[in-house]
Amino acid sequence: MPDEIAPAGTAARPDDVLGEILAGLGNRQKTLPAKLFYDEIGCELFNRITQLPEYYVTRAEVALLDLHADEIAARAPGANGAGGTALVEYGAADESKGVRLIDAASAPFRAYVPIDIAPSALDAIVRRMRTSHPDILLSPIAADFMQPLALPPGVATLPSMGFFPGSTIGNFRPQAVVGFLQLVRQTLSGGGEPCLVVGIDLRKDPSRLVPAYDDAAGVTAAFNRNILRHVNHLADGSFDPDSFVHRAIWNERDGRIEMHLQSPRSQTVRVGGRTIQFVAGETIHTEDSYKHTRDGFVALAATAGWRSDGFWTDPDGLFGMHLLRG
Ligand code: TRP
Repeated sequence: MPDEIAPAGTAARPDDVLGEILAGLGNRQKTLPAKLFYDEIGCELFNRITQLPEYYVTRAEVALLDLHADEIAARAPGANGAGGTALVEYGAADESKGVRLIDAASAPFRAYVPIDIAPSALDAIVRRMRTSHPDILLSPIAADFMQPLALPPGVATLPSMGFFPGSTIGNFRPQAVVGFLQLVRQTLSGGGEPCLVVGIDLRKDPSRLVPAYDDAAGVTAAFNRNILRHVNHLADGSFDPDSFVHRAIWNERDGRIEMHLQSPRSQTVRVGGRTIQFVAGETIHTEDSYKHTRDGFVALAATAGWRSDGFWTDPDGLFGMHLLRG
Protein backbone atom coordinates (compact mmCIF):
# COMPACT_ATOMS: atom_id res chain seq x y z
CA MET A 1 0.00 0.00 0.00
CA PRO A 2 2.09 2.87 -1.20
CA ASP A 3 1.07 6.40 -0.32
CA GLU A 4 0.00 5.43 3.14
CA ILE A 5 2.18 6.17 6.12
CA ALA A 6 3.36 2.78 7.32
CA PRO A 7 3.80 2.91 11.09
CA ALA A 8 6.57 0.33 10.72
CA GLY A 9 6.36 -2.42 13.33
CA THR A 10 9.75 -1.30 14.52
CA ALA A 11 8.73 2.25 15.45
CA ALA A 12 9.37 3.08 19.09
CA ARG A 13 6.37 2.51 21.36
CA PRO A 14 5.48 5.21 23.91
CA ASP A 15 6.52 3.08 26.90
CA ASP A 16 9.92 2.51 25.30
CA VAL A 17 10.29 6.27 24.95
CA LEU A 18 9.45 6.81 28.63
CA GLY A 19 12.10 4.23 29.53
CA GLU A 20 14.65 5.97 27.30
CA ILE A 21 13.86 9.37 28.84
CA LEU A 22 14.20 8.09 32.41
CA ALA A 23 17.37 6.16 31.61
CA GLY A 24 18.93 9.28 30.10
CA LEU A 25 17.98 11.51 33.00
CA GLY A 26 19.29 8.85 35.40
CA ASN A 27 22.83 8.97 33.98
CA ARG A 28 25.59 10.82 35.77
CA GLN A 29 25.87 13.08 32.71
CA LYS A 30 22.16 13.51 32.05
CA THR A 31 21.04 13.00 28.44
CA LEU A 32 17.81 12.91 26.45
CA PRO A 33 17.10 10.98 23.22
CA ALA A 34 17.80 13.42 20.38
CA LYS A 35 14.93 12.07 18.29
CA LEU A 36 12.64 13.89 20.76
CA PHE A 37 13.71 17.22 19.25
CA TYR A 38 11.45 16.56 16.32
CA ASP A 39 7.86 17.06 17.40
CA GLU A 40 5.84 19.41 15.20
CA ILE A 41 7.22 22.56 16.83
CA GLY A 42 10.73 21.12 16.76
CA CYS A 43 10.49 20.35 13.05
CA GLU A 44 9.37 23.92 12.42
CA LEU A 45 12.20 25.36 14.54
CA PHE A 46 14.71 23.14 12.78
CA ASN A 47 13.43 24.41 9.49
CA ARG A 48 14.18 27.95 10.71
CA ILE A 49 17.70 26.84 11.77
CA THR A 50 18.37 25.79 8.19
CA GLN A 51 17.71 29.38 7.07
CA LEU A 52 19.88 31.12 9.68
CA PRO A 53 22.83 33.16 8.38
CA GLU A 54 25.18 31.31 10.76
CA TYR A 55 23.96 27.82 9.80
CA TYR A 56 25.90 27.27 6.58
CA VAL A 57 25.29 23.49 6.60
CA THR A 58 22.03 23.31 4.64
CA ARG A 59 22.99 25.98 2.10
CA ALA A 60 26.31 24.27 1.44
CA GLU A 61 24.66 20.89 0.92
CA VAL A 62 22.02 22.33 -1.41
CA ALA A 63 24.75 24.11 -3.41
CA LEU A 64 26.59 20.80 -3.63
CA LEU A 65 23.49 19.02 -4.92
CA ASP A 66 22.75 21.79 -7.41
CA LEU A 67 26.24 21.31 -8.82
CA HIS A 68 26.59 17.52 -8.66
CA ALA A 69 23.13 15.88 -8.51
CA ASP A 70 23.33 14.68 -12.12
CA GLU A 71 26.61 12.94 -11.53
CA ILE A 72 25.48 11.41 -8.24
CA ALA A 73 22.13 10.16 -9.59
CA ALA A 74 23.87 8.62 -12.61
CA ARG A 75 25.83 6.42 -10.21
CA ALA A 76 22.66 4.85 -8.76
CA PRO A 77 22.23 1.09 -9.19
CA GLY A 78 19.99 0.31 -12.14
CA ALA A 79 20.87 3.61 -13.81
CA ASN A 80 21.41 1.80 -17.13
CA GLY A 81 18.53 -0.65 -16.87
CA ALA A 82 14.84 -0.16 -17.54
CA GLY A 83 13.55 -1.49 -14.24
CA GLY A 84 13.69 1.64 -12.12
CA THR A 85 15.41 2.33 -8.84
CA ALA A 86 14.15 3.26 -5.38
CA LEU A 87 15.53 6.32 -3.61
CA VAL A 88 15.40 5.57 0.12
CA GLU A 89 15.89 8.75 2.15
CA TYR A 90 16.71 8.55 5.83
CA GLY A 91 15.47 11.39 8.02
CA ALA A 92 13.53 12.95 5.17
CA ALA A 93 12.11 15.97 6.98
CA ASP A 94 11.14 17.26 3.55
CA GLU A 95 11.71 16.13 -0.03
CA SER A 96 13.70 19.14 -1.25
CA LYS A 97 17.05 17.33 -1.36
CA GLY A 98 15.70 13.97 -2.52
CA VAL A 99 13.88 15.67 -5.36
CA ARG A 100 17.17 17.13 -6.59
CA LEU A 101 18.34 13.55 -7.18
CA ILE A 102 14.98 12.33 -8.53
CA ASP A 103 14.85 15.22 -11.03
CA ALA A 104 18.48 14.90 -12.10
CA ALA A 105 19.26 14.21 -15.74
CA SER A 106 19.29 10.44 -16.43
CA ALA A 107 18.10 9.66 -12.89
CA PRO A 108 16.63 6.13 -12.75
CA PHE A 109 14.26 6.65 -9.83
CA ARG A 110 10.79 5.15 -9.96
CA ALA A 111 10.04 5.01 -6.24
CA TYR A 112 10.72 7.32 -3.31
CA VAL A 113 10.82 5.93 0.22
CA PRO A 114 11.11 8.77 2.75
CA ILE A 115 11.80 7.50 6.27
CA ASP A 116 11.24 9.82 9.21
CA ILE A 117 10.28 9.72 12.88
CA ALA A 118 7.69 12.49 12.31
CA PRO A 119 4.48 11.28 10.60
CA SER A 120 3.34 14.86 10.02
CA ALA A 121 6.44 15.54 7.90
CA LEU A 122 5.75 12.40 5.84
CA ASP A 123 2.11 13.38 5.32
CA ALA A 124 3.23 16.73 3.97
CA ILE A 125 5.80 15.13 1.64
CA VAL A 126 3.20 12.76 0.20
CA ARG A 127 0.68 15.56 -0.25
CA ARG A 128 3.14 17.72 -2.18
CA MET A 129 4.72 14.95 -4.24
CA ARG A 130 1.44 13.44 -5.43
CA THR A 131 1.09 16.66 -7.37
CA SER A 132 4.70 17.50 -8.17
CA HIS A 133 5.82 13.93 -9.04
CA PRO A 134 2.71 11.93 -10.01
CA ASP A 135 4.79 9.20 -11.69
CA ILE A 136 6.91 8.41 -8.64
CA LEU A 137 5.69 5.60 -6.39
CA LEU A 138 5.59 7.01 -2.85
CA SER A 139 6.19 4.62 0.01
CA PRO A 140 6.79 6.58 3.23
CA ILE A 141 7.85 4.86 6.44
CA ALA A 142 7.32 6.41 9.88
CA ALA A 143 10.05 4.88 11.98
CA ASP A 144 13.11 5.34 14.13
CA PHE A 145 15.80 4.48 11.59
CA MET A 146 18.21 3.43 14.31
CA GLN A 147 16.06 0.27 14.60
CA PRO A 148 16.11 -2.57 12.03
CA LEU A 149 13.80 -1.73 9.17
CA ALA A 150 12.36 -3.66 6.22
CA LEU A 151 11.38 -1.94 2.98
CA PRO A 152 7.75 -2.43 1.90
CA PRO A 153 7.19 -5.36 -0.53
CA GLY A 154 6.66 -3.15 -3.61
CA VAL A 155 10.13 -1.63 -3.37
CA ALA A 156 12.20 -4.18 -1.43
CA THR A 157 13.44 -5.95 -4.56
CA LEU A 158 14.17 -2.83 -6.63
CA PRO A 159 17.77 -1.70 -6.92
CA SER A 160 18.07 1.12 -4.43
CA MET A 161 20.13 4.14 -3.56
CA GLY A 162 20.08 5.10 0.10
CA PHE A 163 20.31 8.83 0.75
CA PHE A 164 21.14 10.30 4.13
CA PRO A 165 21.61 14.06 3.80
CA GLY A 166 21.73 16.86 6.37
CA SER A 167 24.81 15.65 8.23
CA THR A 168 22.42 13.74 10.45
CA ILE A 169 24.98 10.92 10.54
CA GLY A 170 27.19 13.49 12.28
CA ASN A 171 24.76 13.34 15.18
CA PHE A 172 25.77 9.71 15.88
CA ARG A 173 28.71 8.56 17.97
CA PRO A 174 31.27 6.69 15.86
CA GLN A 175 30.06 3.36 17.24
CA ALA A 176 26.47 4.23 16.33
CA VAL A 177 27.60 5.26 12.83
CA VAL A 178 28.98 1.76 12.32
CA GLY A 179 25.83 0.10 13.69
CA PHE A 180 23.61 2.32 11.55
CA LEU A 181 25.64 1.69 8.38
CA GLN A 182 25.36 -2.06 8.96
CA LEU A 183 21.57 -1.77 9.34
CA VAL A 184 21.32 0.26 6.14
CA ARG A 185 23.29 -2.37 4.26
CA GLN A 186 20.80 -5.03 5.38
CA THR A 187 17.78 -2.86 4.56
CA LEU A 188 19.03 -2.02 1.07
CA SER A 189 20.40 -5.40 0.05
CA GLY A 190 17.18 -6.82 -1.50
CA GLY A 191 17.84 -5.35 -4.96
CA GLY A 192 21.53 -6.03 -5.52
CA GLU A 193 24.66 -4.36 -4.22
CA PRO A 194 23.66 -1.64 -1.74
CA CYS A 195 24.60 1.95 -2.46
CA LEU A 196 24.41 4.85 -0.02
CA VAL A 197 24.93 8.58 -0.48
CA VAL A 198 25.73 10.37 2.78
CA GLY A 199 25.94 14.12 3.26
CA ILE A 200 28.26 15.21 6.00
CA ASP A 201 29.59 18.47 7.35
CA LEU A 202 33.38 18.70 7.22
CA ARG A 203 35.81 19.51 10.05
CA LYS A 204 36.61 23.23 10.11
CA ASP A 205 37.61 26.05 12.41
CA PRO A 206 35.55 26.26 15.64
CA SER A 207 35.03 29.98 15.04
CA ARG A 208 32.84 28.97 12.10
CA LEU A 209 31.31 25.91 13.77
CA VAL A 210 30.16 27.29 17.11
CA PRO A 211 27.94 30.14 15.81
CA ALA A 212 26.19 27.63 13.54
CA TYR A 213 24.95 25.96 16.72
CA ASP A 214 24.49 29.12 18.81
CA ASP A 215 22.94 31.72 16.55
CA ALA A 216 22.40 35.37 17.43
CA ALA A 217 18.61 35.18 17.01
CA GLY A 218 18.36 32.34 19.54
CA VAL A 219 16.55 29.91 17.23
CA THR A 220 18.89 27.03 18.05
CA ALA A 221 18.43 27.79 21.75
CA ALA A 222 14.66 27.57 21.30
CA PHE A 223 15.05 24.32 19.36
CA ASN A 224 17.21 22.83 22.11
CA ARG A 225 14.81 23.90 24.88
CA ASN A 226 11.81 22.57 22.96
CA ILE A 227 12.95 19.04 23.76
CA LEU A 228 11.94 19.76 27.38
CA ARG A 229 8.41 20.74 26.33
CA HIS A 230 8.18 17.55 24.31
CA VAL A 231 9.39 15.51 27.29
CA ASN A 232 6.78 17.22 29.49
CA HIS A 233 4.13 16.15 27.02
CA LEU A 234 5.36 12.56 26.58
CA ALA A 235 6.33 11.78 30.15
CA ASP A 236 4.09 14.01 32.26
CA GLY A 237 7.10 16.17 33.13
CA SER A 238 7.36 19.50 34.93
CA PHE A 239 10.38 21.01 33.14
CA ASP A 240 10.36 24.80 32.89
CA PRO A 241 12.23 25.18 29.58
CA ASP A 242 13.01 28.83 30.36
CA SER A 243 15.00 27.79 33.42
CA PHE A 244 17.61 26.08 31.19
CA VAL A 245 20.30 27.82 29.16
CA HIS A 246 21.41 26.63 25.70
CA ARG A 247 25.12 25.80 25.41
CA ALA A 248 27.04 24.84 22.25
CA ILE A 249 30.63 23.72 22.96
CA TRP A 250 33.34 22.55 20.54
CA ASN A 251 34.97 19.39 21.92
CA GLU A 252 38.32 19.27 20.11
CA ARG A 253 39.35 15.86 21.39
CA ASP A 254 36.25 14.12 20.06
CA GLY A 255 35.81 16.39 17.05
CA ARG A 256 32.26 17.37 17.87
CA ILE A 257 29.97 20.24 18.79
CA GLU A 258 28.12 19.35 21.98
CA MET A 259 24.68 20.74 22.73
CA HIS A 260 23.69 21.07 26.35
CA LEU A 261 20.86 22.52 28.41
CA GLN A 262 22.31 23.97 31.56
CA SER A 263 20.48 24.64 34.79
CA PRO A 264 22.08 27.79 36.28
CA ARG A 265 20.62 27.01 39.69
CA SER A 266 19.74 23.87 41.60
CA GLN A 267 16.22 22.65 40.86
CA THR A 268 13.96 19.63 41.04
CA VAL A 269 11.85 18.33 38.16
CA ARG A 270 9.22 15.59 38.06
CA VAL A 271 9.30 13.25 35.04
CA GLY A 272 7.25 10.09 34.59
CA GLY A 273 6.54 9.92 38.31
CA ARG A 274 10.21 10.30 39.28
CA THR A 275 12.06 13.18 40.85
CA ILE A 276 15.11 14.47 38.96
CA GLN A 277 17.58 16.73 40.81
CA PHE A 278 19.83 19.32 39.21
CA VAL A 279 22.72 20.97 41.01
CA ALA A 280 23.65 24.51 39.97
CA GLY A 281 25.49 24.43 36.63
CA GLU A 282 24.53 20.85 35.80
CA THR A 283 23.67 20.08 32.16
CA ILE A 284 21.57 17.73 30.09
CA HIS A 285 23.68 16.71 27.10
CA THR A 286 21.09 16.74 24.31
CA GLU A 287 23.02 16.29 21.07
CA ASP A 288 26.40 15.92 19.40
CA SER A 289 27.32 17.08 15.93
CA TYR A 290 30.52 15.30 14.88
CA LYS A 291 32.63 16.89 12.18
CA HIS A 292 34.42 14.23 10.16
CA THR A 293 37.29 14.70 7.76
CA ARG A 294 36.84 13.00 4.39
CA ASP A 295 39.33 10.24 5.21
CA GLY A 296 38.07 9.85 8.76
CA PHE A 297 34.57 9.12 7.54
CA VAL A 298 35.74 6.74 4.82
CA ALA A 299 37.67 4.77 7.45
CA LEU A 300 34.63 4.64 9.72
CA ALA A 301 32.40 3.43 6.87
CA ALA A 302 34.97 0.78 5.99
CA THR A 303 34.64 -0.78 9.43
CA ALA A 304 30.93 -1.26 8.63
CA GLY A 305 31.77 -2.99 5.36
CA TRP A 306 31.27 -0.10 2.94
CA ARG A 307 33.82 1.14 0.41
CA SER A 308 34.12 4.68 -0.83
CA ASP A 309 33.17 5.10 -4.49
CA GLY A 310 32.77 8.85 -4.82
CA PHE A 311 33.11 12.15 -2.98
CA TRP A 312 31.89 15.64 -3.79
CA THR A 313 31.96 19.01 -1.99
CA ASP A 314 30.26 22.39 -2.39
CA PRO A 315 32.28 25.19 -4.04
CA ASP A 316 33.47 26.49 -0.65
CA GLY A 317 34.60 23.06 0.53
CA LEU A 318 32.43 23.23 3.65
CA PHE A 319 30.35 20.11 3.18
CA GLY A 320 31.02 16.63 1.79
CA MET A 321 28.91 14.01 0.00
CA HIS A 322 30.15 10.42 0.10
CA LEU A 323 28.98 7.65 -2.20
CA LEU A 324 29.45 4.24 -0.59
CA ARG A 325 28.91 0.75 -1.94
CA GLY A 326 28.88 -2.47 -0.06
N1 TRP B 1 22.14 17.43 11.67
C1 TRP B 1 22.13 18.78 12.17
C2 TRP B 1 23.56 19.19 12.53
O1 TRP B 1 24.19 18.56 13.31
C3 TRP B 1 21.22 18.89 13.35
C4 TRP B 1 21.28 20.16 14.13
C5 TRP B 1 21.53 21.43 13.70
C6 TRP B 1 21.05 20.29 15.52
N2 TRP B 1 21.47 22.31 14.74
C7 TRP B 1 21.17 21.64 15.85
C8 TRP B 1 20.75 19.35 16.50
C9 TRP B 1 20.99 22.07 17.15
C10 TRP B 1 20.57 19.79 17.79
C11 TRP B 1 20.68 21.13 18.12
O2 TRP B 1 24.07 20.14 11.97
